Amino acid sequence: MDRIRIRGGRPLEGDIVIGGAKNAALPLMAAGLLTEERLELGNVPQLADIHTMAELLAQHGIAVERAAPDGRVLRLGGAIGSTEAPYDIVRKMRASVLVLGPLLARCGEARVSLPGGCAIGTRPVDLHLRGLEQMGAEIRLDGGYIHAAVRGRLRGAAIVFPFVSVGATENLLMAAALADGQTVLVNAAREPEIGDLAACLVAMGARIEGIGTDRLAIEGVARLHGARHAIVPDRIETGTYACAAAITGGQVRLMGARVEHLGAVARTLREAGVEIEEQPDALLVRRRNGLRGVDAMTEPYPGFPTDMQAQYMVLMSVAEGAAMVTETIFENRFMHVPELNRMGARINVHGASAIVRGVPALSGAPVMATDLRASVSLVLAGLAARGETVVNRVYHLDRGYEAVEQKLAACGAEIEREAG
Ligand code: EPZ
Repeated sequence: MDRIRIRGGRPLEGDIVIGGAKNAALPLMAAGLLTEERLELGNVPQLADIHTMAELLAQHGIAVERAAPDGRVLRLGGAIGSTEAPYDIVRKMRASVLVLGPLLARCGEARVSLPGGCAIGTRPVDLHLRGLEQMGAEIRLDGGYIHAAVRGRLRGAAIVFPFVSVGATENLLMAAALADGQTVLVNAAREPEIGDLAACLVAMGARIEGIGTDRLAIEGVARLHGARHAIVPDRIETGTYACAAAITGGQVRLMGARVEHLGAVARTLREAGVEIEEQPDALLVRRRNGLRGVDAMTEPYPGFPTDMQAQYMVLMSVAEGAAMVTETIFENRFMHVPELNRMGARINVHGASAIVRGVPALSGAPVMATDLRASVSLVLAGLAARGETVVNRVYHLDRGYEAVEQKLAACGAEIEREAG
């Protein structure tokens, strides 16, 4: 297994190009199942999860062609040959469940392995299933699989989510695009990735109102056509490198990043003493003075994202004063805390909240991570720490951060990957 070795203490200086958002690309690829015509996606990041989704689409019979020399353009198209999403692929990536809505809407049936729990929580898919049932699907769970079927087309329905779910909103939005009649999704997720999916669906001929709000009204159409769509820049990659610049006391230009997608992250970082300046097609992030402890609580967008919680906690580990960081989305997303404490951080977890008491400096150590964002938080800690840090289980990072060591090394970090 690969490892990343970092010698900390160097301020980052330079430019980092922000890639397309992984969490927009995955549902957009699933949307390729909604039409037999060609869907061309641009600004696709090169990540392990994208390869997994391509593998799943290929299993359904969809040809996935990398059209640009750098692999950033994907062309999807073809007839659906199989409506089964097998366990072997779904277990690698929970977002595989996003094929359920499109398959059911397009083919009237789907057999999708139930995703299991994962390191950050149990993560059930009941909202996805309940919504599809309201649209007329018959759903049965058997042998670890979701068996879904509908006679004729799915029917439009009024679906009120009891709480906000990104994946359920996406699955039902895609299903509703091809349903008979109007679907209204109330208390829908408003993440920029949902807006991106909706924009692409509209380009494919879908009729959607309320994009960007928590109430989406979809007037189903009988068929969707091909389209070209460029994926939004990754707001979590942006926030992660903003934390990297700030924690090292450096200055980094995040090329292509959009401040309006950062939501509460920009506000919280600025309050903590990080400067974020908008430039034409870039954000300049720097820190000239000390960091202050500022509380943060994770919430659905535009609140503070759970996917930035671990990285922000590292920043708070070296801030002056204390910060309370509260996780409200996933029940087990503090696994980075014991590792950060091994590096000299002073963090105490009390239920869903962590009190982070700032220390003057972290110290390097060998560490191990259990999920994507926890892994990158350890990389950030390594960049700021005195001495050497070795981050093990790098495969987590490769699921969601493209060329992380090259991007950081280009800004002066002493970082390298070792094949293990
Ligand atoms: C998406 O996961 C992201 N993944 C996650 O990114 C992100 O952390 C999460 O949204 C929250 O922002 C992708 O977009 C591919 P949810 P998703 O449904 O859709 C519960 C990363 O690091 N829930 O909004 O699975 C669920 O357990 C990751 O890139 C139900 O109870 O998240 C959680 O507590 C990891 N029943 C909460 O809702 C359901 O049917 C929010 O989950 C669905 C969800």
